[in-house]
Amino acid sequence: MKPTTTPRTYRVKSFGCQMNVYDGERMGELLATRGIVPAPEGEEADLVVLNTCHIREKAAEKVYSDIGRLTKAGRAAGKEPMIAVAGCVAQAEGEEIMARAPAVSMVVGPQAYHRLPEMLDRAVQGERATDTDMPANAKFAALPQRRSSVPAAFLTVQEGCDKFCTYCVVPYTRGAEISRPYAALVDEAKKLVDAGAREITLLGQNVSAWSGEDAKGRAVGLAGLIRDLAEVDGLSRIRYTTSHPADMDEALIAAHGEIEKLTPFLHLPVQAGSDRVLKAMNRSHTADSYLKLLDRFRTARPDIALSGDFIVGFPGETDAEFEETLKLVDAVGYAQAFSFKYSPRPGTPAATMDGQIAPEVMDERLQRLQAALNRDQHAFNKASEGRTCTVLVERKGKHPGQWLGKSPWLQSVWFEGDVAIGDLVEVRLGEAGPNSLAGKLLEPVPA
Ligand code: SAH
Ligand code: SF4
Ligand code: F3S
Repeated sequence: MKPTTTPRTYRVKSFGCQMNVYDGERMGELLATRGIVPAPEGEEADLVVLNTCHIREKAAEKVYSDIGRLTKAGRAAGKEPMIAVAGCVAQAEGEEIMARAPAVSMVVGPQAYHRLPEMLDRAVQGERATDTDMPANAKFAALPQRRSSVPAAFLTVQEGCDKFCTYCVVPYTRGAEISRPYAALVDEAKKLVDAGAREITLLGQNVSAWSGEDAKGRAVGLAGLIRDLAEVDGLSRIRYTTSHPADMDEALIAAHGEIEKLTPFLHLPVQAGSDRVLKAMNRSHTADSYLKLLDRFRTARPDIALSGDFIVGFPGETDAEFEETLKLVDAVGYAQAFSFKYSPRPGTPAATMDGQIAPEVMDERLQRLQAALNRDQHAFNKASEGRTCTVLVERKGKHPGQWLGKSPWLQSVWFEGDVAIGDLVEVRLGEAGPNSLAGKLLEPVPA
C-alpha cells in the first residue's frame, strides 16, 4: 500500500448487536483522540470502519460488497477512503479478508481495537496490519474516558461466552467469559451520566454471569452491581441484556421487585420450545424450566415485559417440534421478540449435523412464528393503552414538534410537546400500533 496522509474524518458502520454498537462508539472515541472527527452527514469519510457481525449468514459476503462499493465510490470521487474491518467477521476471517481485499488497510478484532491508533499510524506509512489478539480486559483499560453520551447509553460489563450453544459463533469470535471490574464500571457509568445519559443498558453476551468485588471487597453478581449503580445521581433507568436462563439467580429476580430504577423488562432468549431441540442446541434448560423461571420474575415484578430470541429450523427440527415453539409463545405472551432462521455457521457443531432443514420449510415456520409474536406484541401494546408512565426522550420524530422515546417496557412512544432530547417526561399512552404507541405529554418529571 502507498503511504498516505492521516485521515481527517471517520465513519464507523456497526452491523451487529448492542455490544458491537458499543464497540463502534468506543472506536470513534479513540479516533477522536487523534483529532479525527466524524464525517458530516452525506459526506464521504477519509476512514471507514466496517464494524461487522458474524452471527448469521452472508456476513462475510456483505463485508466484501461494502468494500467494493466504498472503493468504487472513492475512485469516482478521486479519493479512496482508508478502510478498517473490525468486529466479529474480522475476528473470524481476518486473514482471509486481508488476502482477498487489498483495499483494506486494517483488520482488528473486537478484543483488540484499543490498538487502532497504532495500526492507523502504520496504515498511514503504507503498512497493512491485522490484530485479532484477545487480551482479557486490556482493551477497556486502554480506552479513553467517556466524554459524550446519548440519553440511553450502552455499557459493556461482560464479554465473551462459555455456553457453546451448538449453533453459535460468539464463543469463538468473542472468546471466553470475562467480567469487567466493578470499579471501572461504576466509574464509566458516572462518566456517562455526567455526559448526559439518563438510562444505561448493561451489556454482555451473557450479562447475568457478571461477577466482581464491590467497593468493600464483597463478592457481587449482576444484581449487586445494579443495586450500586442505582445510587448514581442523575441515572434514572437501568436495563441489562442479554441473559441466559442458566445464570438467572434469586438476587437478580428479587432486584426486579426492589430496585425502582431497574426497568420492568426482561430479554431472555429461549430459542425453541422442544426439549429435544433445546438439548441438541446445548441450551441446558427445558421449555418447562424456562417458563417456571419467567413465573418467578412475574411474581417479583408483575408488570414485567418479556422478550425473547427464537431460532426456527435448527437441524432435525420436526413439524411437531416447531409446534412446541408456538405453544411456548402462546404460554408466555411476549411483549416483543426476535426470531431468526437457523443459519449454519462455519466451525460450529450444528453446521455439520444431519437433518439440515430446507429453506422453504424455514420460511414457512418463520412466518408462522412471527405472526404469533406480532400478535402478542400488538396485544401487549393494546393492553398498555391508558397507562401513565415515564418516557425518556431519545430523538425527534418525523413531524415537527414530534418526539420519540421509550416507555419503561421498552415500547417506542411518540408524542408532541415542548421537551428536549434527554428529558424524562410523564406520558399517558394512547392508541397502540404493532410497533409503537401514541402518547400524550402530561408534565416533565423533575431530575
Ligand atoms: N448472547 C446472546 C445473544 C446471542 S446472538 C444470547 O445468548 O442470547 C442473538 C441471537 O441470535 C441468539 O439468541 C439466537 O437467537 C440468534 N442466533 C445465534 N446464532 C444463530 C444462528 N447460527 N442462526 C440463527 N440465529 C442465530
Ligand atoms: Fe451464543 Fe449461546 Fe453464548 Fe448466547 S449463550 S452467545 S446463543 S453460545
Ligand atoms: Fe454479531 Fe459479534 Fe454481536 S457476531 S451479534 S457482533 S457478538
